[in-house]
Amino acid sequence: MVEFTLPANSKVKEGKTFPARAGATRVRKFKIYRWNPDSGENPRLDTFEVDLDKCGPMVLDALIKIKDEIDSTLTFRRSCREGVCGSCAFNVDGTNTLACTKPIEDIRGDVKVYPLPHMPVVKDLVPDLSVPYAQYTSIEPWLQADTPPPTGERLQSPEEREKLDGLWECILCFCCQTSCPSYWWNGDRYLGPAILLQSYRWIVDSRDEATGKRLDDLDDPFKLFRCHTIMNCTNTCPKGLNPGKAIGDIKMALMKRR
Ligand code: SF4
Ligand code: SF4
Ligand code: FES
Repeated sequence: MVEFTLPANSKVKEGKTFPARAGATRVRKFKIYRWNPDSGENPRLDTFEVDLDKCGPMVLDALIKIKDEIDSTLTFRRSCREGVCGSCAFNVDGTNTLACTKPIEDIRGDVKVYPLPHMPVVKDLVPDLSVPYAQYTSIEPWLQADTPPPTGERLQSPEEREKLDGLWECILCFCCQTSCPSYWWNGDRYLGPAILLQSYRWIVDSRDEATGKRLDDLDDPFKLFRCHTIMNCTNTCPKGLNPGKAIGDIKMALMKRR
């Protein structure tokens, strides 16, 4: 029989419990992944009891309250608290989403918060996003055109501009990227849904003149064709975008030019 050995420190242990203060009226338990690379200890799941009558409505409000009032060592990224910066992406209640736009009330039972899955963890809820950012750089995400603009601006028709809808709104939160099984297993070579959606955003931009080069770069069994249309990416996107369709559109563009 095959025996598997888990890597050192991979087991998540039960952690500390921080009970609610006396007199708390509406208590909810938050179970939060903790890991400190300096301690040499296994990760743990700490339980924080939060009085929802003294907390804002979103999961991020509770995380900030915990950090401010209970345990200042809790480490996570956040900035805008409006769903536009993409930094507060975690796995909440089993789904990758933005903590600042996820209402606590939408979750049944204990609120479980983990870092985005299948990424190295820097500390607690902070994933190491170096690889996806390097992949983003690799697609050269800027407008490329040699022809000088006729009037000082590169104009688009309303129809041409409309093609960017559903693409420009991406905030690079990587919820889709880290929900994709193909990316979990081939993340070193497969670009993943977030990067491919961003790539398509430039491919369909009528002002960009590097379409052929961009498609050449993607015509690769790993960079693009590791997508097996599982659609986890589209299901999880907190901005309601459809990276699975963008990937299909890139494949179609490649087919058309053959
Ligand atoms: S559709 Fe493609 S990119 Fe999206 S989750 Fe599935 S395999 Fe990943
Ligand atoms: S497509 Fe959606 S889930 Fe993916 S990075 Fe962009 S905003 Fe986030
Ligand atoms: S804090 Fe900016 S998207 Fe949540």
